[in-house]
Amino acid sequence: MSESALSELTQREQIATRIYPSADEACAYVADAISQLIQQRNEAGKPTVLGLATGSTPVRLYRELIRRHQEEGLSFERVITFNLDEYYGLSGDHPESYRRFMQDQLFDHIDIKPENTHVPDGLAPRTDVFASCHQYEQAILDAGGIDIQILGIGRTGHIGFNEPGSGPESRTRLVTLDSLTRRDAARDFLGEENVPRHAITMGVGTILDARKVFLLAWGESKAPVLAESVEGPQTESIPASFLQLHKNCTFCIDKAAASRLTRERHPWLVGPVEWDSAMIRKSVLWLARKTDKALLKLTDEDYTENGMADLLTEKGSAYNLNIDIFNVTQHTITGWPGGKPNADDSNRPERASPFPKRSLVLSPEPTDDVFCLGGVIHRLANQGHDVTVAYMTSGNLAVPDPDARRAIELINEMGESIQDDTEVKHARLLEQQLNEKGLLGEDTPELRQLKGLIRRGEARSSARQLELAPEQLRFLDLPFYENGRYRRFKTDEADVAAMVKLLEEIQPHQIFTTGLGQDPLSSPALCFDVLLSALKKCKDSAWLKDCLFWLYRGPGAEWEMHEIDMAVPLSPDELEFKIKGIYQHQTQRSQSPSASRQSENSWNLASELNRTTANYYDQLGLSEYEAIECFKRFEPHA
Ligand code: GLP
Repeated sequence: MSESALSELTQREQIATRIYPSADEACAYVADAISQLIQQRNEAGKPTVLGLATGSTPVRLYRELIRRHQEEGLSFERVITFNLDEYYGLSGDHPESYRRFMQDQLFDHIDIKPENTHVPDGLAPRTDVFASCHQYEQAILDAGGIDIQILGIGRTGHIGFNEPGSGPESRTRLVTLDSLTRRDAARDFLGEENVPRHAITMGVGTILDARKVFLLAWGESKAPVLAESVEGPQTESIPASFLQLHKNCTFCIDKAAASRLTRERHPWLVGPVEWDSAMIRKSVLWLARKTDKALLKLTDEDYTENGMADLLTEKGSAYNLNIDIFNVTQHTITGWPGGKPNADDSNRPERASPFPKRSLVLSPEPTDDVFCLGGVIHRLANQGHDVTVAYMTSGNLAVPDPDARRAIELINEMGESIQDDTEVKHARLLEQQLNEKGLLGEDTPELRQLKGLIRRGEARSSARQLELAPEQLRFLDLPFYENGRYRRFKTDEADVAAMVKLLEEIQPHQIFTTGLGQDPLSSPALCFDVLLSALKKCKDSAWLKDCLFWLYRGPGAEWEMHEIDMAVPLSPDELEFKIKGIYQHQTQRSQSPSASRQSENSWNLASELNRTTANYYDQLGLSEYEAIECFKRFEPHA
């Protein structure tokens, strides 16, 4: 794209924003900037001062810096670091403290001097906090100020822990965490109630003093707040928007995080666009939404008054455009997610043959399948297809301790009643481990196994509701999950090998999967990466040439209308079935299904989303359904 076309498209953006196809590419760019500065300073015998962030976002950047240190000799001997923030009340060796995080994710793997790394003191006594924050600011000044500041962004628009209400003048201080921020941290702390209520954070003013700022963001859950920070007004309700005041700040983000920027969302409003069929579909559906009209009721005026006059000129009239998009949308609807046998399939999302199909549903955690496509699974099974649901991870990290304790007591009592010593012994061991680890300690392998088995039981029970037999379920327990923790997972060849084995055994005709566009360190995104790597290994297999891929969005959100390629309506009864299936996941009652959406009651979220999709179809003037599950076609070979 030419410079002038790009600047036309980005005219609403108040912060330089670079969009990358993947987080790794963005990280390589930022790592280049950091390493170049470090090398220059090292050659001049001078220090480099880095401001560092925690959270999932910078993990890949840190991995790349570690790689450069280990493989390319990048030395951090003269580097001085200041971290943005720390939970108040946590000591540096607490597993969830930001000090611990930094040691694990970066400091322990490079040649930085321990005395050169600074993280706010989470244990400063309440009366000394003010002085301690002041000293932190002074230490930054004494080091010569921050050369490069790395930032992530929270869904409240926070940078560091500067929650809404933080002004551009704010300095390092003690703050109260927002409830959304605490909910987002709940998985790390094994429950929201364990997340600290306060933190110490550099202020927005402290951040703005850095000479260069890079903000990183990945995944669709960050998209709304990013668009507000970049294109919205500077406001205390989105503290990241104050980065607009910085002269040398760059946002480096992936495509999913950029998806709400005007240039991605409705580029036709800011500049000329190429009206290919995808752009036409997106814009006409947007217009119907904007004007609150059914597709076939859109008029020439609607098009001209809403910045789409050039499309109208190109296509002649609203009438033609409306009919085209109406038909495309109608053709997404099917009651036959596995294809309708012996029927004309020229306008159906799935092929009629072969019939029956081998349908493979990949579920990153044991709830994703029923939550996102419980209705479709039920239908596929009822329509005679050969369905396999594969749970990719055990999901054991999401089982609360009280549920584990209940199971241990059951094993113990059963053992005692049948006088089985081995069983009783194991129950006692589990109980002892549970007591010893305390509220926030890590589960032992035995406890993780138990928790994994609890989730298997729930998954079986849920699948039974959908009329699947236990033999139709596979539990892959991918190793990356078994050896890891949230935000710290790392996949390797063993994960890919397990996936290849499953694919080659099933040889599916269609695969339902998820994870595209999600936070790259989340389990769905990692499972998706594992799938893509496995597909590369299967590239010569005949089945792959004949396999269609259907993406579901994930438990907390739904595809937008223009992204839907297959929409499967559910009757009120089918929706009930699905909800009953969801209810079998007893241990997940209090868990949020996804960080990307809040709901009063997460158990209702699936049906809320399915009903909302059905409403959109209705509002567009198509048929009226109770609920719809929807999917997007994906071409792994493209
Ligand atoms: C935390 C940190 C922030 C971070 C944000 C986003 O609250 N204090 O510095 O940017 O959350 O976290 P993540 O990168 O895991 O999405």
